[in-house]
Amino acid sequence: MRFGMIRKEPVTDMGERAGGTGPDGTAIAEAAGLTLRGAARVPAANGRRVPAGSSLNGTENGAENGRPAPGWSRLRLVAQDMRHGARARVRLISCRPEDPASRSFDQLRTRLLHALRDHGWHRIAVTAPARGCGTTFVAANLAISLSRLSNVRTLLMDLNLAQPGLARAFDIGNVGALDPVLTGAQAPDTHLFRIGANLALGLNDRPVGGGAALFQHPVTRDILDGMQASLRPDVTLYDLPPMLGRDDVEAFLPQVDGVLLVTDGTRTVGRQIAECERLLDGRTPLLGVVLNRAETRKSR
Ligand SMILES: Nc1ncnc2c1ncn2[C@@H]1O[C@H](COP(=O)(O)OP(=O)(O)OP(=O)(O)O)[C@@H](O)[C@H]1O
Ligand SMILES: [Mg+2]
Repeated sequence: MRFGMIRKEPVTDMGERAGGTGPDGTAIAEAAGLTLRGAARVPAANGRRVPAGSSLNGTENGAENGRPAPGWSRLRLVAQDMRHGARARVRLISCRPEDPASRSFDQLRTRLLHALRDHGWHRIAVTAPARGCGTTFVAANLAISLSRLSNVRTLLMDLNLAQPGLARAFDIGNVGALDPVLTGAQAPDTHLFRIGANLALGLNDRPVGGGAALFQHPVTRDILDGMQASLRPDVTLYDLPPMLGRDDVEAFLPQVDGVLLVTDGTRTVGRQIAECERLLDGRTPLLGVVLNRAETRKSR
């Protein structure tokens, strides 16, 4: 398994690397468990409340008890389940629940759902300090883990417009471009795919620039809100570009209730996490920090 989760200590208390050695000599990567934190510091997540009928009002497994979800029947069914994902190029380890690594994602899923339920939140940005930390890997595997909860509906959107990666991760071809959807030129339900009954995918096969400008456009905001209203996902995960060195994520923050930050245990350093925290401070709750490739670091 090459995945771990970090107990998020104040950055100043961490080793130089995100996966480095803590002040008491304990490897932070071994402090298994993700602390979903930050929620108490920032009020009411952009003012969003739980829509009527959200399964997060009830138990972790949802409260809708199989009622058909509005809008989902119109989405193109690409597969009945995630079995095909076992051969995908990005490791979709969550396709194999028996794989011990997939338990890490189930643990992350459980903690995330608790935090969302407690606060009535739904929309999560998945991002990283820098490129290649594993944002797409984590977003895809977390979405698959969520999709195994039959009464939880998950929408996963590839909003890393410059470097889209989810279509490749799921090994789905001819997915088309996402930007016409975001500009209102194409109806979302003609673009989205569905896997099984409760995982919807917004994919993109055409890299485009100008993500920050698009994200701040009122039309794009309305379209994303409209997708929430029509599909009523319990969890929406947005796979986003890295936070540092570009402004896409900052521009997108008003659209989300919280942020999941993916760090690479082999190269993310504490000051990068601190910089991300500074950008989020007082704006959007940092729900947690995921330490990816933790075991790679440990075995070096
Ligand atoms: N824990 C892991 N175990 C095995 N492979 C991994 C792991 N994390 C990431 N990878 C692989 O590393 C590569 C880069 O990961 P990924 O595409 O998720 O990064 P990213 O942060 O989304 O990059 P970008 O910033 O370019 O979008 C992919 O091939 C992915 O499958
Ligand atoms: Mg990516």
